[in-house]
Formats: sequence, structure tokens, C-alpha cells
Amino acid sequence: SWTTESIVDEQVAAIREQVGGKRAICGLSGGVDSAVAAALVQRAVGDQLTCVYVDHGLMRKGETEQVEKDFVAATGVQLKVVDAADRFIDALAGVSDPEQKRKIIGREFIRVFEQAQAEIVAEAPSDEPVAFLVQGTLYPDVVESGGGTGAANIKSHHNVGGLPEDLEFELVEPLRKLFKDEVRMVGQELGLPDEIVQRQPFPGPGLGIRIVGEVTRERLDLLREADAIAREELTAAGLDRDIWQCPVVLLADVRSVGVQGDARTYGHPVVLRPVSSEDAMTADWSRLPYDVLARISTRITNEVSEVNRVTLDVTSKPPGTIEWE
Ligand code: XMP
Repeated sequence: SWTTESIVDEQVAAIREQVGGKRAICGLSGGVDSAVAAALVQRAVGDQLTCVYVDHGLMRKGETEQVEKDFVAATGVQLKVVDAADRFIDALAGVSDPEQKRKIIGREFIRVFEQAQAEIVAEAPSDEPVAFLVQGTLYPDVVESGGGTGAANIKSHHNVGGLPEDLEFELVEPLRKLFKDEVRMVGQELGLPDEIVQRQPFPGPGLGIRIVGEVTRERLDLLREADAIAREELTAAGLDRDIWQCPVVLLADVRSVGVQGDARTYGHPVVLRPVSSEDAMTADWSRLPYDVLARISTRITNEVSEVNRVTLDVTSKPPGTIEWE
């Protein structure tokens, strides 16, 4: 639309003005905000921008490929992908406590991101110093945090040869005046794929906090399959816009007896957690059509070995949170 076009034009001009001939870095999470912010900056300054995507191995099926292939194809952005799955999964070994998991994932993420950032800074030509960090801050975030202006001092915790101790980045925040629905429209205007622009919320710690119990590669594989089936069926039923999100949770330490064909099974349950919400502060469980639930249940138990039971979470928030951990 005309207004979306004018937002894009205005932001592209503002970014060019701010960044000039210097370089910028942007972390991609797979979410809408960072993708649209990066696409805007790419539109404005092209290859002066380098994006970093940390693959922590906790993404859902196809999500990393969406960033690596579809997002790059749509924007032409320069992308550095760091495959850190082993590192994250090793760090999570033996850990079941939800807060511990979150801390470990957060800590590893910062380490990996800073390492990648340092490499980009070190590789930059000296006449184009890396001076900017792009962030997908939205208007509601600005209001919430009291609306200060964008300047951040990101301390480098590692001793990276030849780099100053304190790297000063100025923030580029092209979405600071926008609400979520406007961000989606800008993303669409910039030609980003629907799978990215219309993406439902997904937690930073990813599937790591949707496995109740220890996170292992095998469990991640199971959950990834079950989650992919649920998403496929919800999309096929045209329900993506009606629900806020639908976590699929693997109860990895629980087993129950089942029967399949002539054989006794002893497998894990998964929980479907479809919710409707305005802002995730409160939520209600979604009254999904029974036939959709039935299809999801049949497919998951048929297609995901080790999962022999599908259950439905009918708790509102409060008292339940949306995620189980
Ligand atoms: P809860 O479980 O607190 O979730 O009801 C509310 C919303 O926030 C998402 N969520 C997260 N998002 N990092 C994120 O970026 C996180 O650590 C995180 N934890 C929960 C959750 O998916 C829901 O949309």
C-alpha cells in the first residue's frame, strides 16, 4: 500500500543517512522483527550489512533453511551462519531444570554471537569500520523500556586478537515506530516470504524448553517431527491466523503403555498447547475442531516412533504459562 511504501522509503533514507559508508551487523533469530529490520538495512546499504544467524540446533523443522535459503534469496543479504548445535546440545547435557536450560542457552548464544561479530569486525576493510548493530526493536518495546535513544556499549568478553576491549556499536532500529502488524506489512512490501512474515511467536531457547526433561539429539528429532506434523495440519486447516501459537511439548521423562498393530509399545506423550491471545500476557486454550485434533493425533502416533500418546492442554494463562518451561 502507499503508506507501507512510504514507511519503507522513509526508513531506507534514514538508514543511509545514519550508516553512511560504514558497516553494520544484524543478528537474525528466524523471527519476523529481526528479518524485517535486516531486510530494510540491506535495502538501504546493501553489502555493508552482514547478518549473523546462530543455529543452536533447537530450531523447528525447516526453520534454519528458511533463513539460509529463502530469506537470503528474497533479500540478497550477506549471511554468516554459525552451526553451533553441538556446542549447545553438549552444554545442555544432563540438565532438566527449566531456568538452568534458559541460562545455558542464553550464555552460549551470547558467546557464539560475539565470536561471530568479532570475526566480522576483524575481516572488515579499514575504510569501512563496523560501527552499527541492527536491532528489530518495535514501538511497544520502546515504550516499555522508557524510550531512551539508541546507543549500546557491547562489551566483548573474549580476548580477540587486535580488537579494542570495548567495541562501541551504535544501534540501528528501523522498526522503532512500528507495531507488529505494520512490521509484517513492511516485510511483505520488501518481498519476504510469508513463512517469515506471518510467523507465529517462537521462544528464543527454541525446542530446548519444549522438552520436559534433558535435551538430547534424539529427543529433539522426535519433537521436531511431531511439531512439524502439528504445524502442517493447522496450516492445512487454515487455522494459523486464528491461533496465537501452538507449542508441541515432549514429556521426555514420562512413558505410557500403548498398543500398535499387535505390539505393546512403551513410549512418550506429547502435549498440544494451542492458545489464543492478544499479547501473550494472558491466553486461553484454543477450541480447535475435533477433526483437526484427530488428524494431528493419528499422524503423530503413526509417523513418530516413540510417541504413542497425544494429549491436549486445556489450561488458560493464568494459571498456566503458554510454554511448559
Ligand atoms: P509464556 O510461556 O511466558 O510465554 O506464557 C509468553 C510468550 O513468550 C514466548 N516466550 C519466549 N520468547 N524468549 C522469547 O523470545 C523466551 O525465552 C521465551 N519464553 C517464552 C512464548 O512462546 C509466548 O509467545
